[in-house]
Amino acid sequence: MNEELGTVQAALGARARLLQWADGGLVVDLLRAASGAGWLDLLTTPTTVEALAEAGGVSAERARRVVEVFVAAGVVRDGEGPAYVLTEEFAALNGAPAGVRLDDAIDMVTAARDRVRSALSPDVRRTWEQDALVVARNWGMLPAAATRAIFSMAYDAVPAYRDRLAAGGPLLDIGSGIGGALLTTLTMFPELRAVGVERAEDVVKELRERAEAAGVTSRLEIRCADAQEIDDEAAYEVAYWAQAFFPDDARAVTLEAARRALVPGGLLLVQELTPPAQDAPEARLHSALDALVADSRGVPPVRTAEELAAELRDGGFEDVEVTTTPIGRLVLGRRALD
Ligand SMILES: C[S@@+](CC[C@H](N)C(=O)[O-])C[C@H]1O[C@@H](n2cnc3c(N)ncnc32)[C@H](O)[C@@H]1O
Repeated sequence: MNEELGTVQAALGARARLLQWADGGLVVDLLRAASGAGWLDLLTTPTTVEALAEAGGVSAERARRVVEVFVAAGVVRDGEGPAYVLTEEFAALNGAPAGVRLDDAIDMVTAARDRVRSALSPDVRRTWEQDALVVARNWGMLPAAATRAIFSMAYDAVPAYRDRLAAGGPLLDIGSGIGGALLTTLTMFPELRAVGVERAEDVVKELRERAEAAGVTSRLEIRCADAQEIDDEAAYEVAYWAQAFFPDDARAVTLEAARRALVPGGLLLVQELTPPAQDAPEARLHSALDALVADSRGVPPVRTAEELAAELRDGGFEDVEVTTTPIGRLVLGRRALD
């Protein structure tokens, strides 16, 4: 009897944990619904439950329940009187500063869920490109003042690279995404000319639109191509490789193409994606899920700066150095002087 009681208690504990995991996902679903109903814009200023109910076409009772969830989740707080308002963080995210958008984050969650659902279904064929735009949007920021400030911190830590950007490059940007790095850098250095290489067609389309909006098209060539096929020779002073998004089987060929494309003495820059902290159990869970989703996209787990440095050396780069910057670690390598 005691043994059975123990088993039932263990099962109840596991069930409670399972329901607890689900809570975060439910809040994300509710946020999506609230965004669609126009609630988030309303909640940028103090708004009553009645006004929210009217906007959502639901009863005041239902609106109150939803608001209670958001208050508990830290999305919304009590405003003055009987009104509610977005917390500072969510007000910021709702304003999409420098292109950091709530909808993109929610799309990222949805794409990750789809990957996880089919993780044990070998027959489900999912291509990398399926998530390319979602990932690129979530990763790349708009070329705004805040983004330029962030990139300045990085470039100031690699002055030899920065000075060549300032002198006009040219820059080869490998795996451009929607142009977070590429367009920001072009708007920082008015003399700079660049070529961006991106494989996914829908991402390229959006990159072209964003380049137009940033006013840099006269200094930028965008190629829709696999980076492994770059056949320029000794054409660029500097290159940036978005290595974290390149699968194992494409890395050596891409690196070789980048080396050939640089002028002798030209510089290649890559960035280490900071591995998530592992100490807290939630961080371990997050990190393991991240690695699973990345694996299902064919992308390798996070490589440390030291591993990247070794990869660059193996690829024939010289004077490879790891530099710590306020935005993480960068690895810089040089094509040998012939
Ligand atoms: C997430 S984006 C990188 C972010 C971008 N550098 C920025 O700052 O916004 C990485 C891009 O690399 C592209 N990519 C991956 N493998 C590629 C390859 N072999 N050739 C060209 N592009 C590739 C992906 O399609 C993806 O859009």
